[in-house]
Amino acid sequence: MKPVVFVKQSGAPTARPLFIFQSIMHTYYFDMSRAIHEDEMETAGRILREGGLVAFPTETVYGLGANALDEHASARIYEAKGRPSDNPLIVHIADVASMDTIASYGKQSPWKKLAQAFWPGPLTMILPKKAVVPYATTGGLDTVAVRMPSHPVALELIRRGGGFIAAPSANTSGRPSPTKASHVREDLDGRIDAIIDGGDVGIGLESTIVDLTEDVPVILRPGYISQEMLEEVLGSVELDKALHSDDPSVRPKAPGMKYRHYAPKARMVIVEGDPAAVAEKINALAAQDRMEGRSVGILAAEETRDRYREGIVRCAGSRREEITIAMHLYALLREFDALGVDCIYSEAFDTPQMGQAIMNRLIKAAGHQVIAV
Ligand code: TXA
Ligand code: MG
Repeated sequence: MKPVVFVKQSGAPTARPLFIFQSIMHTYYFDMSRAIHEDEMETAGRILREGGLVAFPTETVYGLGANALDEHASARIYEAKGRPSDNPLIVHIADVASMDTIASYGKQSPWKKLAQAFWPGPLTMILPKKAVVPYATTGGLDTVAVRMPSHPVALELIRRGGGFIAAPSANTSGRPSPTKASHVREDLDGRIDAIIDGGDVGIGLESTIVDLTEDVPVILRPGYISQEMLEEVLGSVELDKALHSDDPSVRPKAPGMKYRHYAPKARMVIVEGDPAAVAEKINALAAQDRMEGRSVGILAAEETRDRYREGIVRCAGSRREEITIAMHLYALLREFDALGVDCIYSEAFDTPQMGQAIMNRLIKAAGHQVIAV
């Protein structure tokens, strides 16, 4: 499908000629936050089948979809996001049988057990790829990352779009992943063919990635499905060494994990330790910033938010309901960006199930700046 190209007149009194390298396209907006609309879903599916880009909700974060088996369509994802071309995409499927088309595995492969336990859901598995998956989708790798999401809009779109949808998070590279359709609009309006609004996502952090190409499965990216949950199904599971190392020479096996993703514009520092000492330290740091003319944002849990006397305090959620923290994290980082704060101080959130995932994203956002008190 040829995108409809027009000149956007945001604030400009007259339409200016279109420069070939800055072509702005019209982005369709389909609101399916309450129900799936048959005709719009069909249009979105057709856009995908014809090589276009459609952003859509999943239970983790919004994804930017393209036909995973069409190298030109995949290439458009990289262009729209400004994503480095060595960073492979996850292929989304809508039924377990689709795995056979794109991945190779032996009888011993544990993928079916994992699929039974966690699909549809926030788990991505890495297996050797079959030839039909272009290298443009796998960033040149001979393996493919596969996930079956549980969001009904995502599943329906994958079916209509041809069954194999490559989708990274629908943000511009380097920004926090989108947890609302408005985040996608902020980043990609005018750069992609359509956005499907499915309301706020339910989890808020990207899927757990587990590499099944090694003898012992390895977690490359922590997420809602924790190491413990995987171990219940698989026996032993390892964590990629790069996840708990700040030595830059230890390269993560998921190419995307090496980038300083999720980076807010402000300088960000995490303070961890006893809650009273953490609040005291953050208050002292923030007071110092105020005296030196810097504005401050503070990310706190509901249980401790009242301890802060400085800056703009935002509550991520409750430590007793860790999913609320995961769900609000990226939106709050975006909000601090929009407010233009100079410094962000965050409490540490080492919660039982999602703590590993939350801290992984926070520590990256902070560029490994952690103070222990
Ligand atoms: O929850 C999610 O997984 C979301 C939604 C949209 O499904 N998607 C997502 O995609 O987070 P993205 O592109 O932002 O992250 C994909 C990660 C990257 O770190 C990438 O390097 C890694 O998966 N990855 C993809 N294919 C891989 C492969 N064959 N081997 C190793 N890592 C791979
Ligand atoms: Mg991403």
